[in-house]
Amino acid sequence: MMNAAVQHGHDPMKRESRVAPVRNPENWSPTSWRARTAVQQPSYADPQELESALHKLRELPPLVTSWEILALRGMLADAAEGRRFLLQGGDCAESFDDCTSPLISNRLKVILQMSLVLTHGLKLPIVRVGRFAGQYAKPRSADTETRNGVTLPCYRGDIVNAPAFDVVSRRADPQRLLLAHASSAMTMNFVRSLIDGGFADLHHPEYWDLAWVEHSPLQNEYRQMVESIGNSLRFMETLVGRSVADFQRVDFHTSHEALLLHYEEAQTRQVPRHWGWFNLSTHFPWIGMRTAAIDGAHVEYCRGIRNPIGVKVGTSTKPDQLLQLIDVLDPDNEAGRLTLIHRMGAKQVGKALPPLLAAVRNAGRKVLWCCDPMHGNTEALDSGVKTRRFESIRDELDQAFDIHAAEGTRLGGVHLELTGENVTECLGGARDLTEEDLSRAYRSSVDPRLNYEQSLELAMLIVRKRGDLRASA
Ligand code: PEP
Ligand code: CO
Repeated sequence: MMNAAVQHGHDPMKRESRVAPVRNPENWSPTSWRARTAVQQPSYADPQELESALHKLRELPPLVTSWEILALRGMLADAAEGRRFLLQGGDCAESFDDCTSPLISNRLKVILQMSLVLTHGLKLPIVRVGRFAGQYAKPRSADTETRNGVTLPCYRGDIVNAPAFDVVSRRADPQRLLLAHASSAMTMNFVRSLIDGGFADLHHPEYWDLAWVEHSPLQNEYRQMVESIGNSLRFMETLVGRSVADFQRVDFHTSHEALLLHYEEAQTRQVPRHWGWFNLSTHFPWIGMRTAAIDGAHVEYCRGIRNPIGVKVGTSTKPDQLLQLIDVLDPDNEAGRLTLIHRMGAKQVGKALPPLLAAVRNAGRKVLWCCDPMHGNTEALDSGVKTRRFESIRDELDQAFDIHAAEGTRLGGVHLELTGENVTECLGGARDLTEEDLSRAYRSSVDPRLNYEQSLELAMLIVRKRGDLRASA
């Protein structure tokens, strides 16, 4: 393939080439994943129908730009080096029905409020990344589902099929690829408008919904934190003579699991002023735990794109395997390229994480470490309901901070499943939600999410934990 850097002699590229090697990985193309084993893919009945949807998808405009992607890469490099902190959060799975104004704005609101708490408490700029505008494909533990003797394909997320248990809903429908793109574009458009135009009030905790605070034994500390954020903002506004919303431009980025490879491939493009290939459906794709095989199709696809890449790391990952994976995905050891998202569970993180941190540290690899305290802490109650305990989530995060400190590595971010609504899906938190509460507002069709209050509380607890760590250093 012709190297784009040779074709264009523009300044931005010259600047860029000083920091990154200008070359595409060998034997890679946007379709080279097709020669590998691709797990977790649906089977489409009619190849012609799939091809015509993909053809359309290849022609549609992208959702993000290469400039934004490279800017985010720079920010993630900063986070790896301790100059920023990553907050990545959103739904486990978006659904087409949830592409509505209140759900999108409330989700954005909670992430923005959490990021203010974190900026103020950690004294670091926050890199905000949503799990949205494309988080439509889900890995599943089985290809089929059987109910009352009837077996149908499993639900793989709205980009593939529908959750209702009937033949038509469960058929893998290629038209859904286009609907996913359209819903992502609408979400993205609304998020960009909110960030550019509205949401000014959110900078001020006076407008936040903080009724839950009084239910916590830590209420005085929480109140002080919020008061201090308000004071700092007012001080800045007095100093500058303008509202904070006018001078603070908020950056926001999108991410999703790069699972459905036909979709990702169709949005993989070359652009005029940057060399290489970009996945322009999202800023920050990640490889899920079930699809991280080193010789598998997902790793093959991701190694060739220039987006920053996340990889989920679970308890079964061995240090050698992880180092090999890093070699394939980040051969040039570039800060910002790779984010390792560990998701071990509160019970296992103490044993499973240290050997991985030590191996990566000893190999001198520049990765950003991020903790997902959600996916290792999922449990099924006797009633069959899937939930997570706030205490376990908090516990895994606390332990992760301590383990990194002990290993001389840095925990530079968190990855959360959350919503801006007052759902009742996770147990505990200041209001101490119980098993009985779960039936009141359990709306997730996949994993249980932190609600508005639990999310804000977790941000405050992260600040508290980092304060404790600093005090004991
Ligand atoms: C997810 O992030 O929704 C997910 C399925 O995570 P993991 O790959 O870590 O299980
Ligand atoms: Co999930």
